[in-house]
Amino acid sequence: MEAISVETNEGGEKIENSKQVENIPLRPGLEGVPVTQSSICDIDGNKGILQYRGYPISELSANSSFLETTYLLIWGELPNSQQLHDFQEEVQMHRRLSFRIIDMLKCFPESGHPMDALQSSAASLGLFYSKRVIDNPQYIYDSVIRLIAKIPTMVAAFELIRKGHDPIRPRDDLEYASNFLYMLTEKEPDPLAARVFDKCLILHAEHSLNASTFSARVTASTLTDPYAVIASAVGTLGGPLHGGANEDVIAMLEEIGTPENAGNYLDNAIKRKSKIMGFGHREYRVKDPRACVLQKFAEELFAKFGKDEMYEIAKRLEEEAINRLGPKGIYPNVDFYSGLVYRKLGISRDLFTPIFAISRVAGWLAHWREQLSANRIFRPTQIYTGKKIREWEPLEGR
Ligand code: SDX
Repeated sequence: MEAISVETNEGGEKIENSKQVENIPLRPGLEGVPVTQSSICDIDGNKGILQYRGYPISELSANSSFLETTYLLIWGELPNSQQLHDFQEEVQMHRRLSFRIIDMLKCFPESGHPMDALQSSAASLGLFYSKRVIDNPQYIYDSVIRLIAKIPTMVAAFELIRKGHDPIRPRDDLEYASNFLYMLTEKEPDPLAARVFDKCLILHAEHSLNASTFSARVTASTLTDPYAVIASAVGTLGGPLHGGANEDVIAMLEEIGTPENAGNYLDNAIKRKSKIMGFGHREYRVKDPRACVLQKFAEELFAKFGKDEMYEIAKRLEEEAINRLGPKGIYPNVDFYSGLVYRKLGISRDLFTPIFAISRVAGWLAHWREQLSANRIFRPTQIYTGKKIREWEPLEGR
């Protein structure tokens, strides 16, 4: 095993040989390091192909529904009509929240970010379903149903409560996407809006071992309950380098103001070495396939409900950015156009990431279930760069 020597520790002392950690070199952010085996999703970053359980997202977003795709992700095969009917029915029956969770949401400051409200309310489910029998398939199925069913209700409830209203009860007669949009406005959504929203949920549902899914797997590997697993993942998704970028893209387009300013904005950002939100990806070296589909959905909505002047800025920014950053493999990712779709659907900007979470619960639960099937607690190691063992120094001598 070759020793890995680290130059100096924090005190500037030269370290000959740090603790040997086999012959694996340090990989910040675990870049390119396989830490598990999975059959849920695969990404071809060079060809821009994303597939869930073997089905390309182009097929799924054209033909499937979010709940059918959720079933596929979690149990590995597309459901037959009875399985899909039962799954849909169970989710419909479990959408409501305990009044205690509603009361808890009412205690949160209305200025708080909805992702923090979601992380707290998702974790609180562990208080209501405290029996932890994670090797029991029925417990796993029931937990999946509760989380898939209740997370959208939590997001919509906090949105109404922070505006000073009582939450709108879920409607059993509405399918998943329509019901969520209904709980935000108390109006049944336009069929095109509901269809596009459901497809957005499919596109955001899973993406192999991204930061929040890795967080879910690490938490799952300790055999804690699924509510803690989802709360960990929600907390991870909220960061601006991950799921929080969709909100920042809109702020960036607002700051740019006109298509003509896009080039200038980019040059300054690149000079400052700051990241262009909605661009770049650890896996993709081409335009994120999800961004391509989301862009088409945005155009469908604009055709029916009227254009959004921000779209011209976004298209110009993409053009200018590809000229400058394309050679480095930096292209639009999933977050670049998703916010424009949600804006056109009349959704508040700081709900964009909670909506990402509503969708990604499907992927996180699929990874939770897979982790349990062949579990080994995650416990990587480190390269120690701190002080060597030394004498205690009494206070008076310091
Ligand atoms: C999501 O992992 C997933 O699958 C995530 C996700 C999912 O579905 O779960 O796809 C969802 O999180 C999408 C990403 C949303 N985040 C953003 O849009 C924020 C902006 N993007 C970047 O912060 C960045 O691209 C990351 C975080 C997404 C990826 O970062 P990496 O792989 O760690 O790349 P890096 O930061 O090491 O950058 C490599 C080079 C650097 O240049 P050099 O120092 O080598 O010259 O590329 C440059 C970076 O400066 N770069 C960018 C850039 N992203 C990378 N330069 C300008 N703008 C950017 N957005």
